[in-house]
Amino acid sequence: MRSIVVNALALVPAVLASGNTCPFNYPAELNTTESHQIFTIASNSPVTNNRAIQLRKNSYLQGGFFAGIDATSPVLLGNFRGGGFYSEACNDVNQPYDLGPTGYLSERDEINGTHRYNVGFTNATIWPGKVERSWYLLGGSSDGTYELYHEEPLEVVNGSLLCTADIDLDSGPWYQLFYNTCMEVPHEFPGCEYVGVTTTVAATIYNGKCDIAGLVAS
Ligand SMILES: *[C@@H]1O[C@H](CO)[C@@H](O)[C@H](O)[C@H]1NC(C)=O
Ligand SMILES: *[C@@H]1O[C@H](CO)[C@@H](O)[C@H](O)[C@H]1NC(C)=O
Ligand SMILES: *[C@@H]1O[C@H](CO)[C@@H](O)[C@H](O)[C@H]1NC(C)=O
Ligand SMILES: *[C@@H]1O[C@H](CO)[C@@H](O)[C@H](O)[C@H]1NC(C)=O
Repeated sequence: MRSIVVNALALVPAVLASGNTCPFNYPAELNTTESHQIFTIASNSPVTNNRAIQLRKNSYLQGGFFAGIDATSPVLLGNFRGGGFYSEACNDVNQPYDLGPTGYLSERDEINGTHRYNVGFTNATIWPGKVERSWYLLGGSSDGTYELYHEEPLEVVNGSLLCTADIDLDSGPWYQLFYNTCMEVPHEFPGCEYVGVTTTVAATIYNGKCDIAGLVAS
């Protein structure tokens, strides 16, 4: 019985691959895509690994959100256009539309050269003034998996950090997503882990052709 189950599972990827109507060489880097994505944490901790990033209401900024993980907030659905990170929602017939808030960083603190930035979403007209066109997806693998990055001015170590939140605890405990930069060795913030934020970009099919961010494969 056990071996039958294992074989059935092993067949799944082959079936998906043969049914794939849209083979595509994913570009190494993307900052525009028609794809609508959710983002998951890649961590060594079983508690946070594979959890989807959620939009948690920012009680300090009306209409704003933090990015993080908790028990109740809606999952972030995102779309990239010209380096902007647009949050989306789905209407009642399941079509994604722009929710309004876009992604931005704001500095939280700096210790020993490691800068920690809040990852936030808000109406860019209200804050930070205009859409932050600094987001990109790096490392397209054969199945369209990418990691989220933010452009930085210098040759710096940069990536994501997930911390047990120490602010805005009134509506329950949560993990806050930060972005960090440092020159060499990242500082170890207590209650935090360095994580990857990964997503899978799907090809869009137009009249039998595949399109990712305007790059067309037939
Ligand atoms: C990302 O978007 C910006 C703004 O549209 C553009 O100037 C830049 O060339 C893009 N970079 C990449 C790698 O696509
Ligand atoms: C952002 O807020 C401004 C001012 O309230 C409003 O005019 C605009 O439509 C909003 N933008 C989005 C994308 O919701
Ligand atoms: C900063 O780095 C120095 C040298 O490694 C270390 O002694 C010090 O404790 C660090 N400061 C903090 C706040 O971690
Ligand atoms: C940020 O990190 C990525 C992945 O390690 C790297 O490719 C990129 O060059 C870094 N950015 C800067 C400005 O150094």
